[in-house]
Amino acid sequence: MKIISIANRKGGVGKTTTAINIATALSAIDKRVLVIDFDPQGNATTSLGIVKNKEQMSSYDVLVGRCDAQTAAIATDLPRFDIIPSAPDLAAAEIELVDVEKREYVLREALKTLKNSYDYVLIDCPPSLNMITINALVASDSVIVPLQCEFLALEGLADLMKNINAIKRNFNPALILQGIVLTMYSKQNNLSKMIEADVRKYFGCKVYDTVIPRSVRIAEAPSFGKPILVYDFKSTGAQAYIELAKEFLKREKEI
Ligand SMILES: Nc1ncnc2c1ncn2[C@@H]1O[C@H](COP(=O)(O)OP(=O)(O)OP(=O)(O)O)[C@@H](O)[C@H]1O
Ligand SMILES: [Mg+2]
Repeated sequence: MKIISIANRKGGVGKTTTAINIATALSAIDKRVLVIDFDPQGNATTSLGIVKNKEQMSSYDVLVGRCDAQTAAIATDLPRFDIIPSAPDLAAAEIELVDVEKREYVLREALKTLKNSYDYVLIDCPPSLNMITINALVASDSVIVPLQCEFLALEGLADLMKNINAIKRNFNPALILQGIVLTMYSKQNNLSKMIEADVRKYFGCKVYDTVIPRSVRIAEAPSFGKPILVYDFKSTGAQAYIELAKEFLKREKEI
């Protein structure tokens, strides 16, 4: 079982979209996948068409120890693809964790109960570096960073690397940067190309060759409660995520 955080402090860069579509592609090739919606906004939950009822346990319940991770996991419409949904309460966990001993390790401990139920666990992080994200990174083997090619992207990335290294030093020495994926890419846009060149120069082979294009179909899919791979399999966006998942697996073998 491999645990991967999808993280970037910047909002709206494609974290949730990347998490659910890599998960969908992996589940389609027989991998057992769990997505943990670890953002109080709950976008991964709603993007998969899941309407939470009051009895359903959430990632918040797991984090505060009210329920174990396996019990909180529910099936999605897709085979081999489970999710632990989010709840707005998760925003309060930040404060509730203040008094907890070893508060950075709470999720890590909680995920031990999953044992080997899944091949991959993908954690969709919120757009900040708070105690929730720290818990995700401390619980993870690696991190995938979606990056939008826009002004100041490289500065944001440098900051994020500092944060990841601080977590490595203090809490989780085994954490690795699995890869950086360029999202919402516009071929027509010269700035996109310049930033892509810079990111590839500094981060080399950590940057996936596959680039996710800006696509209206990708933006539409969540409102239908479906990953783009299900909503419009033939679209360029869906095909890009399939390529990304293939490249992800190929590189996994090389690590
Ligand atoms: N390649 C794309 N082309 C067009 N729209 C996209 C693309 N990827 C994501 N979007 C849309 O952009 C918005 C932000 O994407 P997403 O929710 O995946 O980002 P996020 O990083 O998870 O955001 P947040 O930081 O708020 O959690 C969503 O409305 C999503 O549907
Ligand atoms: Mg998100």
